[in-house]
Amino acid sequence: MNVGITVRDTEPYGVVSPRLYGHFAEHLGRCCYDGLWVGRHCNDIEHVNGFRKDVVNALRAMPTPLLRWPGGCYADHYHWRDGIGPNRPVRLGLSCGRRVLDDNSLGTHEFLRLCELIGAEPYLAGNMGSGSVQEMCDWVEYCNVDISTTLGLERKANGRGEPWGVKLWGVGNENWGCGGNYDPESYALEYRRYSLMLQHVDPTIEMVVCGHETDWNRRCLDKLRNHMGFVDHFSIHRYWVKGGHGTDFSADDYYALLSEAQQTEDFILETRAFIEDATGGQKKVGIALDEWGVWHPEARTWGPGPVASEVGDYSQAGTLRDAIATAVGLEVFHRQCDSLSLANLAQVVNVLHAPIMTEGGDFWVTPTYHVLAMHKPHLGATAYRCDVTVDTDLPTGEGAVSATATSGGVTVTNRHLTESAVVRVDAGLTRGWLLTADSAGAQNSASAPDSVSPQPLEVRHEGAGIVFELPPHSVATLTA
Ligand code: AHR
Repeated sequence: MNVGITVRDTEPYGVVSPRLYGHFAEHLGRCCYDGLWVGRHCNDIEHVNGFRKDVVNALRAMPTPLLRWPGGCYADHYHWRDGIGPNRPVRLGLSCGRRVLDDNSLGTHEFLRLCELIGAEPYLAGNMGSGSVQEMCDWVEYCNVDISTTLGLERKANGRGEPWGVKLWGVGNENWGCGGNYDPESYALEYRRYSLMLQHVDPTIEMVVCGHETDWNRRCLDKLRNHMGFVDHFSIHRYWVKGGHGTDFSADDYYALLSEAQQTEDFILETRAFIEDATGGQKKVGIALDEWGVWHPEARTWGPGPVASEVGDYSQAGTLRDAIATAVGLEVFHRQCDSLSLANLAQVVNVLHAPIMTEGGDFWVTPTYHVLAMHKPHLGATAYRCDVTVDTDLPTGEGAVSATATSGGVTVTNRHLTESAVVRVDAGLTRGWLLTADSAGAQNSASAPDSVSPQPLEVRHEGAGIVFELPPHSVATLTA
């Protein structure tokens, strides 16, 4: 294949907020407990204040600019007071049909300490399922108040004098389902009450409304139409589920997954239109894609199958194919960076589309981790339109090679399963990194942690451009 890429730096899409590279840590499977948190008294795994040292270092390096916690579905059962102070109750940890013992040893102080350790902005999801407005107001006060209220003093007694000043607050999660089984109108009415009361406690917070699919989003936003002053972000979730089994997939499955990742853009555009209609263009409300990623059938009991009859710890293998789907998704995020205000990959360790995996004392990163790390030059950069001419289309209709360009560099993805491409980019780039493997199903593991890892890309300079060969199923990032 022959590919030409032209970067239109006079046609910016906007700034790629670091918040678009957010992650999600839910108390589900081995994500929070075991994956992140081994506890302060753990002797056999090195840790920093109870968090695995290998994971903390990897999160810092990835980087992890934003981290959402404690759910997901878990959030709408979570009572924040259970996770503070010396005496913590053991509760049922409830999420996604799982009922596990939960000792609450990882609570607000621990999570916010983790964010400080890894340089992440925290995003807390409040409980609108089994909680109350007052409970959530108290959580905001506990975290953010800088005066000596009883809650402020309690925070100090628990070891934290300075408020954390948490900005992002989710008002529930998937309240159309696990978060209370609301209909859109009744959720919107509840949201109006919550958001007003929360804003009284701390007028500087940013609140996130729970969205869903087309009908919910239209109806919910319609009900919020005259109350958009209390809406900062509108949440949608998108899991890519059409790619068949995580490791045992056909060529059709491979292309179906990448195509589904691409179609996330249509969903963003549709949601944006609903938001603009509700605000009448009077206010900027961002789309919070606060759960996204690949969810393979062996880790779910619903959706296109054959699915699992029972789900264990929600882990799935992360292959190069998932990393390529990530690259496709990130291209969409860049193009839509003016509409998207934040995004969180689900989830950060061990669960679903995880960039990091652990097993006892073992630790490794998945190919998806490497794509995210290769995107580092794009964080905070300006995204530009970039035109790709390619002589081959995929069976699903998209061009076989795609790209995203920012003031930080250019990332090019060869989505073709079997054909390599000779790529010319007309931009002042000098070097690059390439992520590929013999098979799109390649993965890393405890015994072979570096099977799929970035290698220097061989490039040749021609005039004002750069030329290189991109193997099948690969991603490359080039910088100046
Ligand atoms: O990420 C797993 C689950 O997916 C979350 O708990 C929920 O919000 C979504 O349905």
